[in-house]
Amino acid sequence: MKQKFEAIEADKVYDKSLFDIPNAYSDSIQSVLIPPGLIRNRVSKLARNIANELPENVEAITLVCVLKGAFRFSSMLMEELVKLTDIPVIMEFIRMKSYHNDVSTGDVQILGELPSNVIKDKFVVVVEDIIDTGKTMKVLCEMLNQLGPYKCLIATLLWKELQTEREVVPHYVGFLIPDVFVIGFGLDYNEFFRDLDAICVINEYGKEKFKIK
Ligand code: HPA
Ligand code: MG
Repeated sequence: MKQKFEAIEADKVYDKSLFDIPNAYSDSIQSVLIPPGLIRNRVSKLARNIANELPENVEAITLVCVLKGAFRFSSMLMEELVKLTDIPVIMEFIRMKSYHNDVSTGDVQILGELPSNVIKDKFVVVVEDIIDTGKTMKVLCEMLNQLGPYKCLIATLLWKELQTEREVVPHYVGFLIPDVFVIGFGLDYNEFFRDLDAICVINEYGKEKFKIK
């Protein structure tokens, strides 16, 4: 599938010593890829893009937060959306899991229920932290479309430049990033680093330190 979206290309890394990194994580980080202020500003712009596409008569926006990684992105998106629109913003949660250490197991599960009344006729935005192959996202979108949303769009904070064929193309993309394992702002490595405010590249020491043995 052809890629068609606008995004900031985060192809430059920053020296971690220039940022305020929590002590627990400083030795596990290679470099900073996206500083917190840049995340905030980009999310604000994505919210504006969503607000600009809302039809007059839509009753509510439903953000479908894909747990766990998207919890910070979806929360920030909600914060920014309520500044820009008078339409209620509903948040629903779904969970998909496929990673063990930094390896995709390929075996994906969708957990959690989506009541049809929060999807039907609503302007639905599925909110992801990162999409790589898009396999799970495709299944989730097919499931949502059966519930009769006014529209169902995908927003992802990050999009990795991979060579492989894409199953879906998101409507809103925050940043285009290189094919490296990233952590922070909700993204984890074995549940750690979600609390880090910046999006960073993990180093080999960090992978070993927080490895599931
Ligand atoms: N980091 C964390 N989770 C992920 C990544 C990543 O780079 N890619 C897919 N899930
Ligand atoms: Mg995820």
